[in-house]
Amino acid sequence: MDALVSLSKRRGFIFQSSEIYGGTGSCWDYGPLGVELKQNIKRVWWRDYIQRRPDMMGLDASILMHPTVWKASGHVDNFTDPMVDCLECRRRFRADKIDETPWVHYCPATKGNKFTIPPGEPCSHCGVTRTLCPECGKGELTPPRQFNLMFKTFMGPVEEDASLTYLRPETAQGIFVNFDNVLQSMRRKLPFGIGQIGKAFRNEITPGNFIFRTREFEQMEIEFFVNPLETVEGRPADEYWHERWIEDSMAWFRRYGLGEENLRLREHEADELAHYAKRTADIEYRFPIGWSELMGIANRTDFDLKQHAKFSGKALTYFDEERKEHVVPYVIEPSAGVDRALLAFLADAYREEEVRGEKRVVLRFHPELAPLKVAVLPLLKKREDIVRTAHAIRDELSKDWSVVYDDTAAIGRLYRRQDEVGTPYCVTVDVQTVGDQAKGEVGDGKVTIRDRDSMEQIRVPLEALGSVFRELLGGAAWASVAGRFERKGDG
Ligand code: GAP
Repeated sequence: MDALVSLSKRRGFIFQSSEIYGGTGSCWDYGPLGVELKQNIKRVWWRDYIQRRPDMMGLDASILMHPTVWKASGHVDNFTDPMVDCLECRRRFRADKIDETPWVHYCPATKGNKFTIPPGEPCSHCGVTRTLCPECGKGELTPPRQFNLMFKTFMGPVEEDASLTYLRPETAQGIFVNFDNVLQSMRRKLPFGIGQIGKAFRNEITPGNFIFRTREFEQMEIEFFVNPLETVEGRPADEYWHERWIEDSMAWFRRYGLGEENLRLREHEADELAHYAKRTADIEYRFPIGWSELMGIANRTDFDLKQHAKFSGKALTYFDEERKEHVVPYVIEPSAGVDRALLAFLADAYREEEVRGEKRVVLRFHPELAPLKVAVLPLLKKREDIVRTAHAIRDELSKDWSVVYDDTAAIGRLYRRQDEVGTPYCVTVDVQTVGDQAKGEVGDGKVTIRDRDSMEQIRVPLEALGSVFRELLGGAAWASVAGRFERKGDG
C-alpha cells in the first residue's frame, strides 16, 4: 500500500485533500492522471452496462433528496454503527471493529511498561485482554451507542429541523424514487435495469487505508427490476438474475485486468444481511490490506419500492399484461465503488521488475483504463525537425486518445517514466524518421512504437500510426500487430 500511495502522489494520481492545511480526514483528490484513470473506469462501465445492453438505461439523480426518502429507505433508523468513546483521549471507535487493531497496554507485570499487542491477543506477560482504549491504553470506554453515518445538512437559509436533510449515502435511492418516471417515459417491460454513477457520502468512523474507505466516494450502481411472478430456466426470476449479475460482475473485473487469483466471492451470512436483502454476495479483492469487499450484489426484493410507495402514497408497481395484475418488482442490485475499483486496478497493475540489472516499476493497466494511451518522445530535442514531427504526431493522435509529448530526459528515462504511469505505448521519432538534411539524407518516414509490457519495438510508417493504434487500443494483441512490421531491439 505504501508503494501505491507514494507512486500515486509522486506521479499525479491521488493527493490528500486540502494537504496544505494538514489534510482532511479520509478525503482524497484525484490528480491529472488519477482523474483520467477514474474517468476511464466509469466510461467503460457506462459503455458496457448502459450503452451496450438493450435492457439497461442510465440516470443521474440529485445528491440532495427529500428527507423522507431516508426515512423510507431505513437509513435514518438503521444506517448506524455501534460506537464507543474513550473517556481519557476522547477518541471514538467502532465497537464491532475495536479488536481488529493492535492495542496499547501498560503491563502491571512489567512495572507498567508500554506494549503494543496484536489485535485480539492477550498480553503475553500478564495475560489480560483489552478492556481500555486501544489507542491511549489508559481510558475507560463508554458503552456502545448507535451513530448514524449520514452527513446532515440544511436546505435553504434557515438551520432548523424542518429543513434538515442528508447527503445521500448511496446512489440507489435516486433510482428507486424515479422508478415510475423511467417506466412511464421509456415504456419498458420487465426485466430492465437503471444504472447510475455518482457521489455518495458516509461519515465513516474508521475510514482509512488510502481510498479504500473514505467519507466521500463514488458509486456505480444498478437496480435491475425483475418480475417476481416469473421463472427463468425453472428458477424464480430474482434468483436467476441475481446469479447472472454475480457472474457478469466477476467477468467484468477480470476483463479489465484483475487477476483471477485476486478475486473471490463471499456470501453474506444470515446475521449480516442488510435489512432489505434476501441474499447478498460480495466480490472480494485481495487488496494490499487483505481480502476485502470490492462490490456487493444484493437481492433487495421489493423492499425499497414498497417502502417508497408507503411513505409517498404513490403506487410503484408494474402492470403484468400477461397475468393482468399489478406487481411490485424485485430488485437485483450490483453496487460497486469507483474509488475501490480504482484501487484494485492500481494494485493489480503494479509490478516491480528487474530489467537489464535495473529496477523497473510498471503499471500494467488494461489499455482502456490506462490514463495515457501513447507518449510521443523525440530522440533528440535539439533537432527542430524531429521535435516538429513529434508534436505533429501528438496533435494527430490526441484527436482520438489521451497522448502526451515529453522531451525532458534521455529516452531510457522517458520510457521508465511512462512505464511507471502505465502508458501502454511510446512512439519515438529519431534521425532515421526525418533524415539528415545536412548530409543530404532523406528520412524513411517511420517511427518506433514500443510496447510497455514486452518492451519490444517495431518500426511503423507515419501514415499507418492511426490504424495501428486503433487496432492496439481497440484490444488487438501486440504480437498480432507487431508481426506485420520490422522489429527493432527492445527498449
Ligand atoms: N446501495 C448499496 C450499497 O451502497 P454498500 O455495500 O454499502 O452497498 C457498495 O456499498 C459499494 O460502495 C461497496 O462495495 C464499495 O465498493 C463502495 N463503498 C461503500 N462505502 C465506501 C466507502 N466508505 N469508501 C469507498 N467506497 C465505499
